[in-house]
Amino acid sequence: MMETLRQFYWLGFVEYPLFALFAAQIILGVALILKRGKPKGSWAWVQVILSGYIALFLLQHLGAIVMARINYDFETTTYFAAGVVSGLPYGLCYFPYYLLGIVVAFTHITAAARFAIWPAPARVLHEALPLIGVVFGLSVVTALSYGVADELPKPYQEYLAKSFGD
Ligand code: HEM
Repeated sequence: MMETLRQFYWLGFVEYPLFALFAAQIILGVALILKRGKPKGSWAWVQVILSGYIALFLLQHLGAIVMARINYDFETTTYFAAGVVSGLPYGLCYFPYYLLGIVVAFTHITAAARFAIWPAPARVLHEALPLIGVVFGLSVVTALSYGVADELPKPYQEYLAKSFGD
């Protein structure tokens, strides 16, 4: 699927604006958190805490992809993503890191949908979407963890060894 989508998002006029938009999201998101002051109510707390995580996740995720493309002679394929969750001890850190990345993406959208109808009562969608995010995230990251353990190509093994001394 990624190889098919790359034909679109690797086009210069798509990829550079995509990175710029994510950079803008991080800067504007942090500015909004600071401007808003102390959150009032559980949904507001959820939104602020998870937004902070999205900012950190995107900084690390996009930074790692850019640095790998600059410094290593391999493509940032599924092997690249899966390598960090296919062994121990680094998998203990990267499993929750990826899982939370997916869960907070779902929860962030849910919080926006919740505030769009505030103060009307929450709808089923607002309860269901975060749970769907957890199930989807667990499926993706578990599949990544077990998918490549025995067949990780050498360049990615070397990357892991260099990064984590494995
Ligand atoms: C399990 C979770 C995730 C995994 C395994 C993952 C993996 C990857 C991989 C392998 C790439 C490189 C793609 C390529 O070279 O074509 C990538 C790129 C990217 N990811 Fe993720 N990702 C995850 C979650 C997320 C989330 C939650 C977001 C955003 C909220 C995100 C945003 C991006 C962006 C913007 C790129 C750059 C695309 C480009 O190359 O132009 N990712 N990710």
